[in-house]
Amino acid sequence: MDETLVIEQAARAHTATDSISPLAIDTGPHALTQIYQAETNIAVWDRLLPLELTQDIEAMLKTGQSLALVQTVTPSDAAEWVRNKLSGHTCAKALGEDIALIVDMFCCLFDVGEAGLRLTTLDKPMCPKFHVDHVPCRLVTTYSGSATQWLENGSADRSKLGAGSQGMPDHLSGLYQSDSDINQLKPGNIALLKGSGWEGNESLGLIHRSPANLERQPRLLLTLDMV
Ligand SMILES: [Fe+2]
Repeated sequence: MDETLVIEQAARAHTATDSISPLAIDTGPHALTQIYQAETNIAVWDRLLPLELTQDIEAMLKTGQSLALVQTVTPSDAAEWVRNKLSGHTCAKALGEDIALIVDMFCCLFDVGEAGLRLTTLDKPMCPKFHVDHVPCRLVTTYSGSATQWLENGSADRSKLGAGSQGMPDHLSGLYQSDSDINQLKPGNIALLKGSGWEGNESLGLIHRSPANLERQPRLLLTLDMV
């Protein structure tokens, strides 16, 4: 079935579904609709990228291509815009189409006509300390490299976020007790992170960070925001 249609149907039915986990994860795009559940702080479509696309993206990153693309896009113009920006790279067409699919789902899920896109290559963490995004909801997907890390609210002392860390790194600040408290997405996963700007979630926004890039492997990260 068409993935956008699945999202539309599930979004209409979201009030009839129930979930008590802060993490909603499934191998289909319908998992993303669970973000509407009050208890859900992170909804993940657990998908694997086609091997050919992964290899083509890695080939682009190996050329040293640096990207910091920011644009408001619509479901109908996203593919062409990305393809033009990546002109000359083998991944341009497939990556443009994949991003357009994600933009379409995002716009459908939140009933908006456009999305704020960022497509960025990173060779060091963009947000290395755990934090909360002050937005209603952000879509993130890592196409290559290590993916986003996050904490469940129950295993985090939120008083240690930001200035509360007193300048200490996360592993010393008392924010979490054990490295096993740290959850991590996988490359290819599409995740919706509920922020503090979501009505009713003001003090419960998902705590997350960019992973330490120990492998010094460049990342390719896509984020979408409401504009
Ligand atoms: Fe963030």
